[in-house]
Amino acid sequence: MKVQEHFCLKDKHSFHLNVTARYWAEYRNTDELGEILQDKRFYKLPVLPVGGGCNLLFTRNFPGLVIKSAISGWDIVHENEEEVVLRVGSGLDWDQFVESCVSQGWGGIENLSGIPGLTGATPIQNIGAYGVEAKEVIRYVEVFDRQTRSLLVLPVEECGLAYRNSRFKQEWKDRFIVCYITYRLNKKPAYRLDYGNLNEVLRSQGGLQEGPEAHRGNLAMIRRAVLAIRSSKLPDPAVLGNAGSFFKNPELDVATYSALAERFPELPHWELPGNKVKVSAAWMIEYCGWKGKSMGRAGVYPKQALVLVNLGDARGEEIYNLYQHIVADVHKAFGISLQPEVVVL
Ligand code: EPU
Repeated sequence: MKVQEHFCLKDKHSFHLNVTARYWAEYRNTDELGEILQDKRFYKLPVLPVGGGCNLLFTRNFPGLVIKSAISGWDIVHENEEEVVLRVGSGLDWDQFVESCVSQGWGGIENLSGIPGLTGATPIQNIGAYGVEAKEVIRYVEVFDRQTRSLLVLPVEECGLAYRNSRFKQEWKDRFIVCYITYRLNKKPAYRLDYGNLNEVLRSQGGLQEGPEAHRGNLAMIRRAVLAIRSSKLPDPAVLGNAGSFFKNPELDVATYSALAERFPELPHWELPGNKVKVSAAWMIEYCGWKGKSMGRAGVYPKQALVLVNLGDARGEEIYNLYQHIVADVHKAFGISLQPEVVVL
């Protein structure tokens, strides 16, 4: 394992900003992770664990140690006619994992096709798309505890997974590093097709087939439809630097939502348990006139207003400025403070 100094992070995060890390290291197993963290050089420095770097905005060079999981591979820990339970290294590419599961006929994550990044981010961010969230399939998260320097197995119920949030992003941020994730997947059909135009796209491709033999083909078809919808709305980070949705969709109490709906009846919204209503941040940003606009080399993606993009050699501060202007305008128009989904460093 090699520790590198003054390391360029441009290809290590999806905004592709020209920033450096004071130190960079990749670990292939938990022994290597323990070894890096014991190195006296890093005792007093900030440590930033990253996966694919798909949810980060660097506003300056990182003054400490950036560590990336290269723990790869996965094992079946349990299997019967109904389900399969897999233990997966946190350094595995998420979408390659989804593709492998779909081709085996294992369901539950096909709606999460095409999400960039590594499996290690799935419990941290509770990734979600097209009506499915990672918390529905995760059973356990194995973490390296920086305080005790040991591995811990945490049942998902203890990890506080919520909308694009978890205890890993909050009070556990500087303590636990995700090393393995255990997922439970279905061998029997249990499709989730009610989000947006997913069903419509599937019907236009001939629709799902009936019967147990059709399961594998159906999963592949859902994956194809999700990938097609994503690529029609979301920019490929390899082509145009971005971090997916930059903002979260705000969750309001019913009274706040009702007052807002009187002024903006067209605001897209989704009812949530516990008298909450989620509203579309993209719609509010578009209403404020930001969709397709830019400030310097930072832009709002013309096909999806929730996505901020690096138009080419942008500096982190430029993206940050754009983000601040959008927040101010949305607040002025709607009285709502948009929260970033990305981690701003
Ligand atoms: N909309 C607009 N303007 C836009 C884009 C969307 O008015 O520019 C409206 C749409 O008409 C629709 C509503 O907003 O009524 C929702 O749009 P969409 O289905 O595209 O989803 P989203 O709320 O904008 C969320 C996730 C995405 C995820 C999609 C699909 C968040 C913050 N984002 O976006 O996740 O792919 O739903 O499930 O929850 C990510 O987290 O990085 C991400 C891309």
